[in-house]
Amino acid sequence: MGDKPKLRVIDHEIVRKKQRGYCDTLHHPDEKINQIKQVLEGQSDLSTLDLFAGRGNCSKIYTDYGFVQANEFKGKVFTELREQIREYPNIFINRTNSFLDFHKRIAEKQTFDVIDLDPYGFPNRFFPDVFLLIEKGFMFVTMPKPYVNILNGITKVHLTSYYGEQNPSMETIIERIALWGLCHWRKVELIDSLDLKSVWRFAFAVEKVKATEYTGVRNR
Ligand SMILES: C[S@@+](CC[C@H](N)C(=O)[O-])C[C@H]1O[C@@H](n2cnc3c(N)ncnc32)[C@H](O)[C@@H]1O
Repeated sequence: MGDKPKLRVIDHEIVRKKQRGYCDTLHHPDEKINQIKQVLEGQSDLSTLDLFAGRGNCSKIYTDYGFVQANEFKGKVFTELREQIREYPNIFINRTNSFLDFHKRIAEKQTFDVIDLDPYGFPNRFFPDVFLLIEKGFMFVTMPKPYVNILNGITKVHLTSYYGEQNPSMETIIERIALWGLCHWRKVELIDSLDLKSVWRFAFAVEKVKATEYTGVRNR
């Protein structure tokens, strides 16, 4: 029993090493791509904001449905992304920190039909304001499973501050994301979810609603 935490630390180090090496076994590209294709089937002329593009596995698929803005922060990965998308005319790439860049886009009143949040860690810091970037469309979110991660003191406080508990379940996380949508009067519905080893990949339908209609309360 005493060995377990140590083993988990070693596992965690292996994952970090794979992340540094941009290992596809961590990215689950096939599962993500299939989900995107299933959710966006029949759609066209979409604008997509891919906030964690990596080498562009998903960004390239989004170009089948319209224009794509793809962000990537890490220099080496960005160089590879540029190489990968060379033949794709409708992707614009941006080397930037998406945790800050999305605030700038909100200030510029930009909106997109599709938003993809696929960081290595928790995407919580995008909520609730990321909903200002979408009026009607889809949001794909990668969420680490809290219970398979090593919850150090910082992560515990982080999760408690966002979800009210240090080890929120999938249901709690989904409910909270839907509530964050309502902070900006977006109705948020889970339409698909994938269980990918240490993470979930959620697909949400998002739609701006009128507060009066949504609540059935008339303004006087
Ligand atoms: C899980 S990977 C993305 C995988 C990609 N969506 C795919 O399907 O191939 C996360 C990526 O986000 C990048 N990244 C990390 N921090 C970032 C930040 N603050 N802003 C933008 N990109 C960041 C990492 O370098 C990494 O390439």
